[in-house]
Amino acid sequence: GANSCRPFIAFVLGGPGSGKGTQCARIASDFGFAHLSAGDLLRHEISSGSDKGQMILDIIKEGRIVPSEITVELIRKAMETTDAKRVLIDGFPRCEENRIAFERITGTEPDLVIFFDCPEDEMVKRLLGRNQGRVDDNIETIKKRLKVFDNLNIPVVDYYSSRGKVHKIDATGTEEEIFGAVRNLFASLRF
Ligand code: AP5
Repeated sequence: GANSCRPFIAFVLGGPGSGKGTQCARIASDFGFAHLSAGDLLRHEISSGSDKGQMILDIIKEGRIVPSEITVELIRKAMETTDAKRVLIDGFPRCEENRIAFERITGTEPDLVIFFDCPEDEMVKRLLGRNQGRVDDNIETIKKRLKVFDNLNIPVVDYYSSRGKVHKIDATGTEEEIFGAVRNLFASLRF
């Protein structure tokens, strides 16, 4: 809620394959953030074998977006159970409806939004090259995910840009180069 002891919250946005998960793992270990991935929380629910998990699987296979109540509730619970002072929320909010639901349910806004900017052809290449291909890493679903990203996620980035919260990072280079830019950002924020 809107209490004064809530953690510092950073949303991490970027297209599928932009490297959000990869960079978040490094930020978490170097800067003491808890890493909450919306996608991982959903996949965890799927592997539990619940009815809700089956419904989530059907949606993810098609590259569509899971209903806000489900995702926000998973994130809210994960935030509640961590005692970290800093939290990265990776791959969320996915759309304006997600953003509004998060703000309503938690009564708070992110302190920072990191946006990993990557060209489409590079994202496609990375996803197709992923070692253990996920159910949604085939070319047909990747195209849908990219379209959903353009149509629904970019408006969220624009909203937070207009509120001065977005720090855009060029995500075309090597993992090391990108993390260099991340480090510079955190240094400029005095982390
Ligand atoms: P999610 O799990 O969030 O997937 P995504 O956004 O599609 O992104 P990825 O995890 O595929 O990529 P990433 O940007 O994290 O890149 P990564 O570091 O893995 O979401 C999956 C699905 O869940 C969605 O489509 C949706 O259906 C559902 N969902 C999620 N959130 C939701 C929400 N809020 N509401 C409703 N539904 C939701 O890197 C990708 C690959 O590239 C890896 O193999 C990696 O090794 C490699 N790589 C990383 N960096 C580099 C680099 N610099 N150079 C070369 N290769 C690199």
